[in-house]
Amino acid sequence: MSRPLFQLDPRLRLCADFVRPGARMADIGTDHAHLPVWLEKQGRIRSAVAADVRTGPLAKAEENLKRYQTEHISVRLSDGLAKILPEEAEDIVIAGMGGELIAKILSGAPWVRQEERRLILQPMTCAPELRDYLRQNGFAVLREEAVESRGHVYSVMLVCWRPGQPRTGELYPYIGMLRPETAAARTYIQKQSAALRVRGNGLCAKDPVEARRLLRVADQLEHLIPKEDLR
Ligand SMILES: C[S@@+](CC[C@H](N)C(=O)[O-])C[C@H]1O[C@@H](n2cnc3c(N)ncnc32)[C@H](O)[C@@H]1O
Repeated sequence: MSRPLFQLDPRLRLCADFVRPGARMADIGTDHAHLPVWLEKQGRIRSAVAADVRTGPLAKAEENLKRYQTEHISVRLSDGLAKILPEEAEDIVIAGMGGELIAKILSGAPWVRQEERRLILQPMTCAPELRDYLRQNGFAVLREEAVESRGHVYSVMLVCWRPGQPRTGELYPYIGMLRPETAAARTYIQKQSAALRVRGNGLCAKDPVEARRLLRVADQLEHLIPKEDLR
């Protein structure tokens, strides 16, 4: 008998909610394969490839496929998208990695540049670098939400290739499409502002022009947050 299904933490749950119903999906950097197992067991996807660059996580993924008796998930050793076929991956989740690694994985697979494909990206670090990469390479962020999980706040982006309308604006790399409409988004924006302030203050002597720019962006971000919500 298969086990009762586990709950996803709010971060992975938001990634799951961005996957289109009935999609063939690939989870890159799957670790325990929690995301594809949960999606299959909820009847939300047609199939999944649970991929990881390391054999240790894949062994745990295999165990979970057996434990939860999945039928439409295959496990694959793959550096990024190298061993994934385009037809297996209408929706691609890359979650829980640094933003620069996510950008590198996307640049290694030119076939992700198709308007009908969806990318669900959740950087742990370097989100501004990832957003810069996306806007410079013809990717549009269709939707972005922040989520708080285990004392941290994360951003999840739904992305597709849509060249010709690059997002600009000084705030875009730092908060993307997030607006201060939820408590999690306000926390995210405030944390970005605080981080820029620290960087700006640290650069005052070495690069005063860049320091002024960072402090100006930090001010603009802080002004987005209603005073009563400032922590
Ligand atoms: C912190 S875990 C994230 C697991 C899950 N995606 C999540 O968000 O909770 C990162 C996983 O990405 C894998 N990984 C790192 N670099 C990778 C690459 N280039 N290609 C595929 N997987 C990679 C690691 O082996 C690890 O299992």
